[in-house]
Amino acid sequence: MAKTVLITGASSGIGEGMAKEFAKRGYNLALAARRKESLDQLAIEMTQRYPGQRVETIKLDVTDVAAVQETIPALANLFGVLDIVVANAGVGGGGTIGSDKFDEDASIIQTNILGAMATIDAAVKLFKKQNSGQIVGIASVAAFRGLPGASVYCASKAAVATYMDALQLELHQTPINVTCLYPGYIDTPINNKMKSRPFLIDVGKGSRILVDLIERKVKTSTVPVYPWNVVGRLLKVIPQSLLAGRV
Ligand SMILES: NC(=O)c1ccc[n+]([C@@H]2O[C@H](COP(=O)([O-])OP(=O)(O)OC[C@H]3O[C@@H](n4cnc5c(N)ncnc54)[C@H](OP(=O)(O)O)[C@@H]3O)[C@@H](O)[C@H]2O)c1
Repeated sequence: MAKTVLITGASSGIGEGMAKEFAKRGYNLALAARRKESLDQLAIEMTQRYPGQRVETIKLDVTDVAAVQETIPALANLFGVLDIVVANAGVGGGGTIGSDKFDEDASIIQTNILGAMATIDAAVKLFKKQNSGQIVGIASVAAFRGLPGASVYCASKAAVATYMDALQLELHQTPINVTCLYPGYIDTPINNKMKSRPFLIDVGKGSRILVDLIERKVKTSTVPVYPWNVVGRLLKVIPQSLLAGRV
């Protein structure tokens, strides 16, 4: 029987790319985001290309914790079971600390931390009931070090990574798999105005690697694995003098 994957933030970028890749590999799709029209467009495309697979779309703002808690079990009822939940929805932006941009910072915290944790919490509750499932957190190589001009984004991704670490310990040797992925730069609207995007890969390649890693049920990995597995380690130890002031 075809497996079902729920992806939050499936209206754009990596979420949309992973939806296409999972569909290509035979999965049913539950697609969530705020922009329902974009999800519906993607659903039409996927249903035409893969008529035997089921695609459902749902308008969901992950910062609405009550809505997340209702939506995940409701989607599981609709499909019978959810096999994989990818907590992918996220936003970038923010400024330097103390630059009068805290409203934007607060909204990053709401989406990337509260929204991700609400999704993961609701999915784990469902998976405990199902006694099966795989939860995927999307952190970032930004989790490895607080970088100037990206403090809140880096901190939000470090929070997701730490939360997923704890979850792996909580669910150790249970039928529920926990995967935390750390993408480097993948070409999407979240970063396409940045001046520097080292080791950039396109969204098709990024999504293939992400889905490969998810299907292999890895516990953690950078995306792509190389060079970010090496650069990520270096980032943690590079002297402040080499990183400071690069805003
Ligand atoms: N691209 C990269 O290089 C990169 C690297 C590391 C990590 N990541 C992470 O990958 C994830 C996807 O980013 P992306 O690069 O694909 O960016 P993107 O193209 O801007 O996509 C972000 C997605 O998140 C959704 N979203 C934002 N706020 C939401 C909310 N409150 N509720 C529900 N959905 C929401 C957006 O949909 P709506 O606006 O329709 O709601 C959109 O589908 C993020 O968590 C990001 O931090 C990306």
